[in-house]
Amino acid sequence: MAAARGLRWPETHRRCEGGSRPPRPTRRSILTVKTLRPSTDLTAHTPAPHRDEEWWRHAVIYQVYPRSFADADGDGLGDLPGITGRLDHLAALGVDAVWLSPFYRSPQADGGYDVADYRDIDPIFGTLADADALLARAHELGLRVIVDLVPNHTSDQHAWFQAALAAGPGSRERARYIFREGQGETGEEPPNNWESVFGGAAWTRVRDRADAVGSSWADDAQWYLHLFDSSQPDLNWDNPEVRAEFEDVLRFWLDRGVDGFRVDVAHGLVKAPGLPDWSGHVTMVEGAEDADDTSDEPPVSRTSEKHHARPPMYDQDGVHAVYRAWRRVLDPYPGERILVAEAWVDPVERLARYVRPDEMHQAFNFGYLVTRWDAPALRDVITASLRANDDVGAPTTWVLSNHDVVRHASRLGLERTGKGPNGIGPADPQPDAALGLRRARAATLLMLALPGSAYVYQGEELGLPEHTALPDAVRQDPAFFRTSGDEKGRDGCRVPLPWEADAPGFGFSPTGTTWLPQPAAWAALAVDAQTGRAGSTLELYRTALRLRRELGLGVGALALAEEHRDSDTVVGLINTGSPEEARAAVLVVANLGATPLVLPEGTEVLLASEELLHDDGRVTLPADTTVWLVRR
Ligand code: GLC
Repeated sequence: MAAARGLRWPETHRRCEGGSRPPRPTRRSILTVKTLRPSTDLTAHTPAPHRDEEWWRHAVIYQVYPRSFADADGDGLGDLPGITGRLDHLAALGVDAVWLSPFYRSPQADGGYDVADYRDIDPIFGTLADADALLARAHELGLRVIVDLVPNHTSDQHAWFQAALAAGPGSRERARYIFREGQGETGEEPPNNWESVFGGAAWTRVRDRADAVGSSWADDAQWYLHLFDSSQPDLNWDNPEVRAEFEDVLRFWLDRGVDGFRVDVAHGLVKAPGLPDWSGHVTMVEGAEDADDTSDEPPVSRTSEKHHARPPMYDQDGVHAVYRAWRRVLDPYPGERILVAEAWVDPVERLARYVRPDEMHQAFNFGYLVTRWDAPALRDVITASLRANDDVGAPTTWVLSNHDVVRHASRLGLERTGKGPNGIGPADPQPDAALGLRRARAATLLMLALPGSAYVYQGEELGLPEHTALPDAVRQDPAFFRTSGDEKGRDGCRVPLPWEADAPGFGFSPTGTTWLPQPAAWAALAVDAQTGRAGSTLELYRTALRLRRELGLGVGALALAEEHRDSDTVVGLINTGSPEEARAAVLVVANLGATPLVLPEGTEVLLASEELLHDDGRVTLPADTTVWLVRR
């Protein structure tokens, strides 16, 4: 074994302790320190002052993907009664809120992100009464509920789009969407060169649809825009009728008692006037890439100095007026209802514009999700994220997995870490499962020690890997079909959860039916197999969430540990915890290198992502392990 290096209790910590806690900020919350260095000049971060009821500034929010969480009626697809029946698991886990991916009436062409009726539940998931029951039970358990809102596009089965097809060119019905005449003599070419995020052109010619109503000379030239699948036509947000409709949809759900909305493709609603050509490429989560950009870095984590041209379909300034109007709808409701932006926007300063005081409350930090397993890169993204959000008084969010990316227990076991491919198939290079899980546990412990709000995607608390051996025949993601299988797509992170090791379908459904097959090895990862088992990933999450809450890490001030601020392999942070919490600050150390680190004298281990090593009487932190320490 390589010789262990020593780790001292960092100087910065002393400054943060006891009576010398960083002062509560008045306006800006980054403390400036004398010894600033390039790229890590955030030596200390203190969150914006907040009222106690601002739960969203520090909440841990658990994402439920309804079709894969729990199935009550036995058809193999998850449903709302299934979720309600399993909410105890989330309360016991110790999260503050649940975000539900879409449950609306939908043909399910994109897992429900193709909504046909925003005011009703799809029969596969249940009824409005089931939604009410879910809300009531969650609130009883002290869990808040955030629902998904999909405003960029509807389903092509939405009454508005069906009416638009029937009404023809120039009609009020077509003005709710983005219909344009094609180029070429007879309109045979699409109106511009935009690509769909899921592959292929972002335009479909009306007459190429099987359900095209008749065919007039004028209609022959018409195309409609869809940034995603052809079954997801983009709405026209320049149309006041569209704006009014969505404000009404917000009220519909607020009146039913939801605590907030996760806003799908929040950066896409407004398009540049004239819909100019753009030859860049957009990938999910990472966002836009210029065709001539040869940078190896993930787009969302680039800094502002780097060359970047904003694509005409994303992050247009006009989008902010929409969210200001929505905020005015939400604010009069009691209990701090929130808006969360899903926006693939860079640099992080542009993303922070979505969470200015009169706009949304939070935005997903995809820059963090796509960061490589690399200590300087992690320090940089943590620093830049806190700085940009502090500047607008918003909490920073942290996320490692969701329903659109390869699960982090697999992503971090790939040769090249970072966002990873869009899905992994049996013929692709396979992740190192043991390494991936080990790093995932370390990454989670680092994430949950950061101030702000953290997102947990269903199953990551079990250490679930991506299903990398799904046969193509069972795949459902439109990205798989639109890229002719070049991208395997997102089904591998959406496999139904294992609840009981010995039950058919691992207890996902009473009949044992599951809409995607579960790997046999998941028996060992089932909730009942991990409950009460020392060292299991589930117990690690439970303990981490309990300590995070008890110590107030979500509202703490953060500093880089002086000793490791330039380290190539170690991330060292001090979180002061809640100002009201008398216990000492927490020193968080993640060792991403191969050499074990000796833990500082006089410290007590609160929690570690793996067993610590004992080397010559000293306790050491092994490779790919994170530890939370306090002073003895
Ligand atoms: C968002 C969703 C994704 C969906 C897309 C189109 O990115 O997270 O699942 O496919 O929007 O609605």
